[in-house]
Amino acid sequence: SIDMSTLTKQTGLTSLDYGFVNTAPTRSKITFIDGEAGILRYRGYPIEQLAANSSFLEVAYLLINGELPTADELASFDERIRRHTLLHEDLRSFFNALPHDAHPMSVLSSAVSALSTFYQDSLSIHDPEQVELSTIRLLAKLPVIAAYAHKKSLGQAFLYPDNSLSFVDNFLRLNFGTLAEPYEINPTVSKALDRLLILHADHEQNASTSTVRLVGSTQANLFASVSAGINALYGPLHGGANEAVLDMLATIRDSGEGVQRFVERVKNKEDGVRLMGFGHRVYKNYDPRAKLVKESADAVLADLGVHDPLLDIAKELEQIALDDDYFIQRKLYPNVDFYTGVIYKAMGFPTRMFTVLFAIGRLPGWIAHWRELNADPATKIGRPQQLYVGEPERQYPTR
Ligand code: ACO
Repeated sequence: SIDMSTLTKQTGLTSLDYGFVNTAPTRSKITFIDGEAGILRYRGYPIEQLAANSSFLEVAYLLINGELPTADELASFDERIRRHTLLHEDLRSFFNALPHDAHPMSVLSSAVSALSTFYQDSLSIHDPEQVELSTIRLLAKLPVIAAYAHKKSLGQAFLYPDNSLSFVDNFLRLNFGTLAEPYEINPTVSKALDRLLILHADHEQNASTSTVRLVGSTQANLFASVSAGINALYGPLHGGANEAVLDMLATIRDSGEGVQRFVERVKNKEDGVRLMGFGHRVYKNYDPRAKLVKESADAVLADLGVHDPLLDIAKELEQIALDDDYFIQRKLYPNVDFYTGVIYKAMGFPTRMFTVLFAIGRLPGWIAHWRELNADPATKIGRPQQLYVGEPERQYPTR
């Protein structure tokens, strides 16, 4: 690899790199991906082992601090997060001011941005205690904000967090509990959601994480940086793909055109239609997370006794695509989003909440990258170059 800043200084050369396919803006110790081999590791631990044995909070601690916690460290991390779940009452008026049909991702990014106004101490980004406090606050409050966004879209009353519950159970209750009836936690749903959050927890320099890093490189605080990351995740080519997959499966079901015909339309690039949930900038092999998600889809639907024809369509699509030269030649395989939507739907989440769930999962990664960036003496403000292809100098006409 070449250090481009030295090369640019010595030669005046600028590399044109649309989509940054070949530009590393940083060194990082957090996540390793080998896209050709389909390998993903957080801090050296294979994703399969973490998904089988760990919990989301333990993985969050690992990503942020670099090492797995001891039992005591995990207990204290968990306890601190539970103590910070409450939102300032004034944030309610903030929610009230937003339209009831706002997309929950817009609500989420706005509310996270607003956290800077409630916690102005978050501006002290060089004070380790403050950074730790902002970390805990964000991990504790993002799920609550997300659940409030959900409740708002339903026109239902917000519940207060119940801090005797685990991170995931608390979140499920805030989403599906009502003032009228207690919410009963289903351990299979709870376990599956925890596992899905683990699978989304980091993915090195993806678009939203790069956004967090770019904003963070200006020394913006954690809430401002993560709010920008949430907006980047919202796009349909990134986190919004899980929502787009479900819409695509429903369209195939409702149109009655058949899976084979749909695949033909994708291959012919009719109206730019793509097989959503397929393909990845980095994975040119089966996304290791997609394998694990597919197992969870079968387990959750079986446990809930749900038969969803959309899962059958997804499996048929996958089978056809994996045997088809168009997809084989371009190395297009299912990505993490291909099956998540079916699971979230079975759990009871509306489609518009899918990307919000992705954001909760990705939060530890964003925080870990923001902290790594700020701890790295080599960090510089992000400032890409361009190749100017506009008009040469011309004179303003005198009339
Ligand atoms: N369906 C059909 N064809 C596809 C797809 C797809 N999902 N993805 C890529 N291709 C084709 C392109 O048309 C192109 O074909 P061509 O060479 O004939 O022009 C070729 O494969 C390469 O595609 P690019 O767009 O150059 O690949 P890139 O690495 O830039 O894009 C991306 C990756 C954005 C993920 C793309 O595969 C895509 O749009 N997938 C669907 C959206 C999606 O699932 N996004 C989620 C990504 S994972 C995540 O954010 C967690």
